Amino acid sequence: MERTFSIHALIILLIALQFSSYFSTCSASRKSHSNEYLTNRKYIKNSCRATTYPKLCLKSLARHASKIKADPKLLAHAALNTSFFAAKTTSKLLANMSKVHGLGPNEAAAMVDCIADVSDSVQKLQKSIKEMDRAEGSDLQVQMNDIQMWVNTALDEEETCMNALANKAIKSKVKRGVRGRVVKVAHLTSNALTLVKSFASAQKN
Ligand SMILES: *[C@@H]1O[C@H](CO)[C@@H](O)[C@H](O)[C@H]1NC(C)=O
Ligand SMILES: *[C@@H]1O[C@H](CO)[C@@H](O)[C@H](O)[C@H]1NC(C)=O
Repeated sequence: MERTFSIHALIILLIALQFSSYFSTCSASRKSHSNEYLTNRKYIKNSCRATTYPKLCLKSLARHASKIKADPKLLAHAALNTSFFAAKTTSKLLANMSKVHGLGPNEAAAMVDCIADVSDSVQKLQKSIKEMDRAEGSDLQVQMNDIQMWVNTALDEEETCMNALANKAIKSKVKRGVRGRVVKVAHLTSNALTLVKSFASAQKN
């Protein structure tokens, strides 16, 4: 009886040891992964301090932390990507909204202008991303100047649409539907512009 008990006790002990070593391996690897993630995230957070919308900057870029690591070029690239995809979705949304029946003449006109503005900003951002892929070597500063100019134009276009939608003559339903989205795109673009500038000026030294 006592012998049976001790064999059971031994088996339980072995199982317990197995589990505890399994769990400690697991938590050790999870911990190192999360430390690396936290380091990468901290880099993004610090870089985002220079932007006008640091919270949005961190929130939109943290998911790319493992790709960005602490590389200012990848950070600027990822910010341009984020702004580009948001602008593209918003441009489609505007096109959809413009087909909704019951838009008054003011809304319809604002939509037509906005679609042109935001589509143009999508193209400028796409062009910037392509140039960012090629930007290196002796032409880097020239390329970075072009990129800054295009991103600046994209931001102007988005702000033009944003202001058109703020017009008193635009119904609040339309405002609620799209203006917030356009404002967010403009903020993402503003942040991307700051990160592009930070990268470019750091390369001058
Ligand atoms: C930007 O987006 C493209 C996909 O369109 C992707 O291949 C690339 O890795 C992204 N770059 C960064 C830095 O996130
Ligand atoms: C626009 O409309 C199409 C078709 O109705 C739909 O598939 C798409 O998801 C819509 N896009 C947006 C951004 O609302």
